[in-house]
Parts: sequence; structure tokens; C-alpha cells
Amino acid sequence: MRNAAITGWGMAVPERVLSNADLARMVETSDDWITNRTGIKERRIVGPDDSTTSLSVAAARQALAKAGLTADDIDLIVVATCTPDQFLVSQACLVQAEIGGNAGAFDLGAACSGFVYALAVGSQFVQTGLHERVMVIGVDTLTRFVDYTDRSTCILFGDGAGAVVLEATDEPRGLLSTVLGADGAGYKHLYIPGWGAFVPESAELFPEYRPYLHMNGQEVFRFAVRVMGDAAAEAVEKANLTFDDVDMLIPHQANMRIIDAAARRLALPREKVWVNLDRYGNTSAASIPIAIFEAAETGKLAEEDNVVLVAFGGGLAWAAGMVRWGTAGVCRDPECRKLGLAANEPERVPSGQSPDAAVMEIPTAGNG
Ligand code: COA
Repeated sequence: MRNAAITGWGMAVPERVLSNADLARMVETSDDWITNRTGIKERRIVGPDDSTTSLSVAAARQALAKAGLTADDIDLIVVATCTPDQFLVSQACLVQAEIGGNAGAFDLGAACSGFVYALAVGSQFVQTGLHERVMVIGVDTLTRFVDYTDRSTCILFGDGAGAVVLEATDEPRGLLSTVLGADGAGYKHLYIPGWGAFVPESAELFPEYRPYLHMNGQEVFRFAVRVMGDAAAEAVEKANLTFDDVDMLIPHQANMRIIDAAARRLALPREKVWVNLDRYGNTSAASIPIAIFEAAETGKLAEEDNVVLVAFGGGLAWAAGMVRWGTAGVCRDPECRKLGLAANEPERVPSGQSPDAAVMEIPTAGNG
């Protein structure tokens, strides 16, 4: 069976840091409250010269370099975002304008679950044999849509981008199972009204018509606790594995209490759960590929590790998948890459599961 191994990874966050102490000077809140209720200590936010494009491009270039490829080698670019720089053209085409090549390019919208949705879509193109190499990007700049007078939402979000390159292999690598779901009836618990094709005649007729993120935090919390655990467990079962086989859980980084609930559902100890929301807050579609980058770059992912990805967010949508880490069966030679033949030895990385981002330099993009 043909699979889609992850062979390259990249990330980018803005330079500008917004700490809990900074927020406490803007709205009635405190570092204690934010830390206890969410686990977030600081987040990166875009400055005037940053954009969804600049973050995506930085992450994409890094992922290509890691895979040893150029943009010309890529057949398809899928960008998951709910905050594109513009609606026409797609964010994927804006990325391609910077990195080059003529790959097919389109966007996918599933809010914070977008990266896992896009990974599922990109993997399908490789698995069916239609494409050899696909780039999947998760990026969001939600702080452009955050109301910084609303303390219940402005504390949560940060900006960033993460990218992966998928390449064909006959070994069991990449996404081995996929769980996708949505409850569209609940969309008003987390949405950004306006800025779309529907424009009411008078904004006064629609009191909620503001281009800001609106959220019912408690409803979203309840939904998240329920679906994160269930979807993660289903992804393990669909891959014909048990919870004991899971080497790492990479959850969407929204709230530490939600992450803890998902980990409990899989009976996973904390050291097997990747957590970085203390440093980035909720970066929406970027949170999982950023975590993948950090885990890979700090040597915490080894060939054949089983990694569960699970996300939830606006939609209300959710997504999960079991990823078998590693590049076994992926041809590294340029000539055989062209033919899609033969394989070389997998590049082994050290094992060990204790996340320690201190050893890693955090890539930033743009001017904060
Ligand atoms: N600082 C201080 N107090 C705050 C506050 C803040 N930043 N935000 C809200 N409060 C207050 C509320 O006004 C409320 O006060 P009251 O009791 O006097 O009315 C009190 O804290 C409790 O509010 P509540 O909404 O019940 O808090 P909570 O424990 O549910 O935590 C969230 C709020 C937003 C942190 C939590 O609901 C959450 O994380 N939900 C999920 C949101 C999410 O992940 N969204 C993104 C999805 S991708």
C-alpha cells in the first residue's frame, strides 16, 4: 500500500511577544487567572509587516530545505487557514508566488482543525498515486480578528505557521488513520461574522455584524473535552493499534485543561503529550504543525513512533489521525525520486519522549 511519509517540517512565528502581564495592562485580567484557566503564559502576535503569507512562506521554505527539495519538486500545495491575506486569490497561490514552482495550489477551511483536515487531503493525493510530493501548511493570524477589549477571547490566541512535506513510500509511514467530524449547527459558539460575501444592507440591523471573533467559551470547552478524547481514541482504533502503542500525543494547543482531558482518555502520561501553548497560545491551524516541528527538531520523534494528532475548533469541527513517524521507503536520490522508485535507508533520529524546547532555536518571520 502506498503511503505519504512526512519528510520535511518547518515553522514560523512573529517576533513580537504578548505576555499575560501585557494583557493585564489592556483588560481586567491577571497572569494567575490566564495561567490557571488556560496554561498560556505568552503568545506571538503579528506586527504591521507580518502577514499570513510571510509566516507561511518562512515555514514552507524551511520544510522544503529539511526534505532536501525545491518548490519545483512539489506537485500540490494545500494551505489550511481561516485567516487568508485575501479571498481572491487563495493563500496557497500567494505562498507559491514567493517560493516558486507550478504545483497545484488551493486552500482548505476547517479553522483550528484545518491542518489535520489538510494532512488527510494531502495524504490522499499521494496514496492514490496522483501525486508524489505534497506540501501541507497550517497557518493563522487570528489576532487580526481578536477584540482586545474582550478579556474572554483576547487572552487565548497567537499567530504562527507550520508546514510539512509529504512524500510517497510503500512502507507504513505518515497518516495511517483519519477521523473527521463537524457539528455545523454549533457554528455560533465560535465564529467571525462578516468579511465574507454576505454583507447586510445595514450593520445596525445585525448587531453581531463585526469582523471580530465571537466565542461562547464554556460551550466550546465542553465540546472540546468530549470530541478531543473520543476522536483521538477512534484514530488509535482505526489504525488497529492500542493506547499502549502510542508514543506521543500532539493535540491542538487551546487550553491545558482540554489537553489533559484528551491525555486522560488515552491513559497517556504527561511526558508523552506535546505541550507548547504556554509559549504560543492558540495558533489555530498552525498549532499542530508547529508542535510537529518542535518534536522533530528536538529529537523526540524516532522512526516508527506512533503519534496521535487531534484537533477541534470553529465549525464546530474536529479531526484526528494516527501518524507513523519516519521516512522509511522514501527515495532520497534525485534520479529515483523522479521515477518514484527504490528506497534508501531511513534516517534515524534519537528516541526519547520528554519535550524540551529549550534546546531548539525558535524560527521567527517578519518584523514584530
Ligand atoms: N480574566 C479574568 N476573568 C475572566 C477572564 C479573564 N481573561 N475571562 C473571563 N473571566 C471571568 C468571567 O467574566 C467570569 O466572571 P463571573 O463569574 O464574574 O461572571 C469568570 O471569569 C468565569 O468565566 P468562565 O467563562 O466560566 O471561565 P472558564 O473557566 O470557562 O474559562 C475560557 C474561560 C475561555 C478560558 C474557557 O472557557 C475555554 O478555554 N474555553 C474554550 C475556548 C477555546 O479553546 N477556544 C478556541 C477553540 S479552537
